[in-house]
Amino acid sequence: MGKGTVLAIEVKPEGREPVFLALVRTIINEIERGRLKPGAPLPGTRALSKNLKLNRNTVDAAYHELAMQGWLVTQPSRGTFVAMDLPDMAMPPRASPPQGVVTGLARPAAPGILRLSDGYPDVRLVPTTAFGQAIRRALNSAAFVSGSAYGDPRGNAALRDALSHYLRDERGLTAAAADIMVTRGSQMGLFLAASAVAEPGIAIAVESPGYPLAWAAFRAAGADVVGVPVDAHGIDVNLLETLAQTNASLRAVYVTPHHQYPTTATLGAARRMRLMDVARRYGLLIIEDDYDNEYRFDGRPILPLAARTDEDLPIIYLGSLSKLLAPGIRLGYAVAPPQILLRMADRREALDRQGDWPLEHALADLLADGTIKRHARKARRIYHARRDQMARMLEERFSDDGEFTLPAGGLAIWWRLRRGLSAETWAANAARLGLSVMPGLQFVLDTANPAEAFRLGFASLDNREMLRAMDILSRAKPVG
Ligand SMILES: Cc1ncc(COP(=O)(O)O)c(C=O)c1O
Repeated sequence: MGKGTVLAIEVKPEGREPVFLALVRTIINEIERGRLKPGAPLPGTRALSKNLKLNRNTVDAAYHELAMQGWLVTQPSRGTFVAMDLPDMAMPPRASPPQGVVTGLARPAAPGILRLSDGYPDVRLVPTTAFGQAIRRALNSAAFVSGSAYGDPRGNAALRDALSHYLRDERGLTAAAADIMVTRGSQMGLFLAASAVAEPGIAIAVESPGYPLAWAAFRAAGADVVGVPVDAHGIDVNLLETLAQTNASLRAVYVTPHHQYPTTATLGAARRMRLMDVARRYGLLIIEDDYDNEYRFDGRPILPLAARTDEDLPIIYLGSLSKLLAPGIRLGYAVAPPQILLRMADRREALDRQGDWPLEHALADLLADGTIKRHARKARRIYHARRDQMARMLEERFSDDGEFTLPAGGLAIWWRLRRGLSAETWAANAARLGLSVMPGLQFVLDTANPAEAFRLGFASLDNREMLRAMDILSRAKPVG
């Protein structure tokens, strides 16, 4: 039971940091420094609380948090140990303090800047060893020699097959490999989806606030973009219907029903039915962007729209590995009806000929051997804890400044500021102090009416980084 184990540490909360989080931070520090090695036993909670003169509940809460984050494991009737399979949390070296920063969806933060992203994963968790081995296996395979010449613009057959199984098992979406196309991230899927339906002058309805990179892809494909307001329950389908009645050029609607971007709302069952009904009646193609499906923390999993549809309602379903693994691994996929997929494949061939054979082959392997599923399970557990931690911090430190609905899934919190607080001013102040954070202005079509809100990504920051981010936010708060 680790009873005789002694842990000589000092727990010093920083600012208004809760004591249990200070203990979490201290223990992580000890693990990172190598003083606590993988597999090392920890003292029991009673002994440690006595030793540190803390309440036992505080130590319990800290151990629980550390277990949720994957640092500790508890073995029944044996005790608590440092996990053998640690989250890779080494901090990147920090450059000197920044002079300023530009926030933006697609731009990297300047070196030394701490980033509250719009929902990036923690790329330090990527199973890089398994990934590297899979790439090497792909390059050494006989199939590479025989099969890596020019091929199918829909992508590697093994990966499309693996995705077909994955989508069926994990999302209830039945799609044969022939209905799937591998893309370089869903960004390419968005462009190809629009270019498969766009003729000059047609319009695509989009959520507002929404995802500006989708708007950019649709415009680049020649479509106009028309905003449909989003409320606390997702896209307003009544207003979509009004738009469809009055705009004869409308051909498609783009939605993020699982976790609306940026507000995180899940489109409820009744609205989903209405959306599909409106799309059917007005002949609209649905472009469903399911960019972070793996991360659902509360309640039952929600099936994609594409899992429920029948043949009279065309849906292009887009997925990505950017949240599951890393945005720098350019891999996404599209599922679409055969005629549409064919047009998308033609355009893809004109643009990029085909995908990256070794990368696609390696990912097929990692999907098939369960590595990706194991990674998703681990990441989900860690991000769940980080979501709760960010929510707690916002409540503890900023309860008078805004409000949020705890997102049931996804990697960000949409934090609406109280009247009188400007998200833009706050973000600019934070940038001067070394924190990049994304104000509502970046997600609206009509920039004259910015949402006074922040989209706060919680997944990519460990405990210490999140504390730092909250400290900077606190110091950067506009006065008045
Ligand atoms: C709404 C939305 N769709 C899709 C993506 C994924 O894009 P990609 O697969 O091109 O990296 C993101 C990533 O941030 C996103 O926020």
